[in-house]
Amino acid sequence: ILYSILPKPLKGKKVLVTAGGTREFLDPIRYISNASSGKMGYALAKISYALGGDVLLISAPTCLKKPYGVKTVDVVSAEDMYREVMNHLDDMDIVIMNAAVADFKPESYSRKKLKKAEEKPVINLEPNPDILLEIGKRKRDDQIVIGFAAESEKLIENAKDKLKRKNLDIIVANLLEVFSKEKHKGVIIFSDGRITEIPPMDKEESAYFILNKLFTKDS
Ligand code: CTP
Ligand code: CA
Repeated sequence: ILYSILPKPLKGKKVLVTAGGTREFLDPIRYISNASSGKMGYALAKISYALGGDVLLISAPTCLKKPYGVKTVDVVSAEDMYREVMNHLDDMDIVIMNAAVADFKPESYSRKKLKKAEEKPVINLEPNPDILLEIGKRKRDDQIVIGFAAESEKLIENAKDKLKRKNLDIIVANLLEVFSKEKHKGVIIFSDGRITEIPPMDKEESAYFILNKLFTKDS
């Protein structure tokens, strides 16, 4: 009810949000992934809808309830997410790439459950597509692309590098301490060099804070 009284600056805008950590399977039941909970991405999808957006959420596996009013497509691996995102990209006005995409996947997949053996197993990895890098290459001038960066150190420097390399409009950077936690804090870096601090707050409030920066120039 409270959300319904928000202004609707995203009315008529198509918003794509990705969320969660991709899973890269080794066999039918084992996978490589990361600790992403999906909370920030789901909050961004929910608040984008609350602000009037026509929202498509492309979600890697999470334990979260699907946000009301948001069309959701479930994917598992980085390859799946890449395909799904590229299928919808040209249609979108705003792309928010919040998913924690696995950088690597196992080189081979066994259809049968891998058996415990005497020797130590070796898992060879190969790179996954960098979805955001491809989005940045294909993006039109009338599209806004937002990326995320989770860093252990040199937050601003590393995030600025990603912003530039992936041709983004905005990057939201945070230290690993917020990863899979309830609260979020970090910085928003714009392609023109401006930096805004995101104070510590719940992820839905943080989503509102971030989305507001898209329509308010005076940050
Ligand atoms: N990303 C992506 N596809 C990948 C890896 C990352 O789309 N294969 C996106 C993430 O969704 C995020 C941004 O790129 O929006 C930055 O992700 P991050 O893991 O911080 O950066 P990387 O470029 O993968 O660099 P590194 O992991 O070495 O820090
Ligand atoms: Ca990465």
